[in-house]
Amino acid sequence: MTNDAQPRTQWLGRWGFVLAATGSAVGLGNIWKFPYITGEYGGGAFVLVYLACILAVGVPVMMTEIAFGRRGRGSPIDAIRRVAGESGASPVWSLLGWMAMLCGFMILSFYVVVAGWSFAYLWKMLSGGLAGSSVDEMAAIFGANNESPLNLGFWSTLVTVATMAIVGKGVQAGIEKSVSWMMPGMVVMLAILIGYGAFSGGFVEALRFLFTFDAGSLSSEGMLAALGHAFFTLSLASGAILTYGSYLPGRASIARTTLSVAVADTVVALMAGLAIFPVIFANGMEPASGPGLIFMSLPLAFQAMPLGTLFGILFFVMLSMAALTSSISMVEATVSWLTDNKGISRRTASWGTGIVLWLISTLAMLSFNVGAEWTLAGKHFFGWLDYLTSRWMMPLGGLGMVLLAGFVLKNEAFREELGLSPAWHALWLFMVRYVSPLGILLIFVDALGIARV
Ligand code: PHE
Ligand code: NA
Repeated sequence: MTNDAQPRTQWLGRWGFVLAATGSAVGLGNIWKFPYITGEYGGGAFVLVYLACILAVGVPVMMTEIAFGRRGRGSPIDAIRRVAGESGASPVWSLLGWMAMLCGFMILSFYVVVAGWSFAYLWKMLSGGLAGSSVDEMAAIFGANNESPLNLGFWSTLVTVATMAIVGKGVQAGIEKSVSWMMPGMVVMLAILIGYGAFSGGFVEALRFLFTFDAGSLSSEGMLAALGHAFFTLSLASGAILTYGSYLPGRASIARTTLSVAVADTVVALMAGLAIFPVIFANGMEPASGPGLIFMSLPLAFQAMPLGTLFGILFFVMLSMAALTSSISMVEATVSWLTDNKGISRRTASWGTGIVLWLISTLAMLSFNVGAEWTLAGKHFFGWLDYLTSRWMMPLGGLGMVLLAGFVLKNEAFREELGLSPAWHALWLFMVRYVSPLGILLIFVDALGIARV
């Protein structure tokens, strides 16, 4: 049973929530995934749909999620059940919370593998393993890093252990404390890297690639990818933001915090694109080279630049921290649900969750070596985890939440929680009732081939 008598933990500092939520949002999604899927889906048109999805779907969904979390003061399952109950709606809606929790867990199972790449490359930078490599040699190094399950497993296990160690220490002493130094550190490192990159030249072709809109180049598949990525990059419908919202003090403005998180996340993604594509084009690499894109291109750029090793180290430290501040947010929903409902300590909940996570992530890690042939419909296990969560579970979960908030529940609850002026509240309501659901549905209908929009 949930212990309703005990008040829920809250963020200690004024910036606790913003730091933690921005830490969750800014991650491998911005620096690793955004550039490579933009490359795969052809550039500008994809970026445009992605930006539209952030504004029309991402921002309203994030506000709604934080409101659910703060009003329900619990894990996604408990919070949604309580907020629904308050309006006399069915407890069945808490299934949305179950899906979100599962989704966060599934994402983390492949996320630790990519974060492991980042740690491995940090090590390679430190030990000089990348020095003097050509374009082809960089590709070979990426391949070799994946080939041994022991090597790859070592790095993803390290990330899993670090994640669970932070979460196990608690909301304030673990999560808040770690983001309160990692986030400022990341911002400083990112600023230094951007300043450094500005001198590398070759900006123009990258700008053209990212911002030239060619309507014909976008497939249904690309639109679905853009929508899914908007959810992924803002950490939506996966338990992270809702659970962090459940620790938000009553007085904080949900709209303002949402906007700052969304803006920070978008800026970092575009910056990453502007840092990576010049290198790709300057070296005749393929923009559509998939998940290995940044690991093959950036080390190449760094080694050709003055003080490149130093800045390369800085980059992979920054990337690894970005990954950790995101990975901790993906299990917080599960850990908080376990401690609230199962009467176990946070430490036990974290390490228990960590063991299950480790088993599933090991399977995902094997997709790059011995399990490369274990495919279903052409996708290996890692690919399925990514595909199911981004393309289907997150958009569907977001759709469910906005419909619940917009049409089913009493508006009064959201009026109180969001605390907006009447005009802004009306805009939020219009977005969650019509704009966000229609946007999600249109893309689904299009992707399923029911009708081409
Ligand atoms: N938003 C994170 C990123 O862009 C990923 C993430 C997804 C984090 C879902 C939490 C929950 O890297
Ligand atoms: Na992100």
